[in-house]
Amino acid sequence: MGWMALVVALAFGVAVFATWQILLSRLDHRVNAELTNEASKLRSYVTASTERDIDLLLSGYLTVNVPDGYETFFTVLDGRLHRRTFARPPADLHTDKALVTAAATAAKPIHGWAASAAGRVHYAVIPVRSDTQSGALVVAVFYDRLRGEVVDAVSALSITALVALALACLAGWLVAGQVLAPIRLVRQTAARIGDSSDLSRRLEVRGHDDVAALSATFNHMLDRLERAFAVQRDFVDDAGHELRTPITVVRGHLELMGDDPADNAETIALVLDELDRMNRIVDDLLTLAKSQQPGFLTIEEVEIADLTVSVLAKVRALGPRTWRVEEVADTKMPADRHRLTQALIQLVANAVRHTVPGDPIAVGSAVRDGAVELWVRDCGPGVPAEDRERIFGRFVRAGSRTGEGAGLGLAIVSSIAHAHGGDVRVEENHGGGALFVVRIPHDGPLVNLEEEDG
Ligand SMILES: Nc1ncnc2c1ncn2[C@@H]1O[C@H](COP(=O)(O)OP(=O)(O)OP(=O)(O)O)[C@@H](O)[C@H]1O
Ligand SMILES: [Mg+2]
Repeated sequence: MGWMALVVALAFGVAVFATWQILLSRLDHRVNAELTNEASKLRSYVTASTERDIDLLLSGYLTVNVPDGYETFFTVLDGRLHRRTFARPPADLHTDKALVTAAATAAKPIHGWAASAAGRVHYAVIPVRSDTQSGALVVAVFYDRLRGEVVDAVSALSITALVALALACLAGWLVAGQVLAPIRLVRQTAARIGDSSDLSRRLEVRGHDDVAALSATFNHMLDRLERAFAVQRDFVDDAGHELRTPITVVRGHLELMGDDPADNAETIALVLDELDRMNRIVDDLLTLAKSQQPGFLTIEEVEIADLTVSVLAKVRALGPRTWRVEEVADTKMPADRHRLTQALIQLVANAVRHTVPGDPIAVGSAVRDGAVELWVRDCGPGVPAEDRERIFGRFVRAGSRTGEGAGLGLAIVSSIAHAHGGDVRVEENHGGGALFVVRIPHDGPLVNLEEEDG
């Protein structure tokens, strides 16, 4: 804003100076032209007249020729002042002895400068001669008077320019204030939200301009932040809550320990068991926390058939079940082999937990609709329709309580599927039981961390 005013002021300055120079040079031109014109007028008068007496000739000329404003004429004859024009000049020149002498002695037309009571004067002397007489016409222009008019015009112009500049600055300042006011409001509100650490507050979005778009973008960012913080807070709450139970149990057992070695051995076994459980929960929580961060997956080319078969080999040790590979997808895809194995093992562990020895459990994989599907099928009680979404949450245990899992297994499966850009669902197995399907788009990779808040 400041430098703009400076540029405008500079432009005005240049304009005023140029006008001043142009008007002055025009003035010089005009004065010279006027003097030349008077000389030629006199010459034509003398040529046209039949009068040969210089006295009468000059007198006659003065009667027919009237000077313009800021101009005066007088004549000299035989070395002395002769006559002067009827109109009164701004200052008397015929009394200037030096000028009269110069005019009386001029042999040819001359011009020059003289000082007067009304400032500098530019004059011309045009001699007129006969055999017996010598006279001259003196034409003088009051140059400083004319220059004064130019000075007046340029000062008026300068004052106008200054006033215009002041008005422009004022208007610019007001307009800038008006344009910036909404932005200032946005900034202040944003600062207040930042200070209060209350992420539920939002900026007011008014109109459809850039400022409104800025506010909307800012609000959108706050939405995301608020959600991210809420997710994190819930996570910490849940973790703390779940870990409190085993801690209480351990504490209770230790406090009740007596002197009986047999009782104590039992208590120690219980405590160790509980600590193992805590350890597992902490590991699972760490996995879940990591799944929110970049670098969770290590992507490589994975043979799905090989993966399916190797999972079954690993889970056989989980319990005496009738294990079966239903189908294998003969395909390769970029994925994290270890994370996918981890997810399938969680599903199989659940299936084992919800079945009894001898029951059939099947794993399989196939390519369907451009996605790779990996599944685990059991013939246990299945998952009631109303729980089929819910059980993928953290610390959610549903239906008949068999065993005491923490409820983190399916949450881990879900986060691994999402990290691969896919998902997991549970269906009713035909003939009873549960069918868990992990579905990962074949066109891979995948690492889509935006997914979690969709
Ligand atoms: N194959 C299944 N058949 C029936 N219900 C199941 C099956 N798998 C999971 N569920 C239900 O879903 C709930 C959540 O499973 P999830 O694996 O998340 O937790 P968990 O197995 O109880 O504990 P964790 O896996 O952390 O040891 C289980 O408590 C159970 O009620
Ligand atoms: Mg589980």
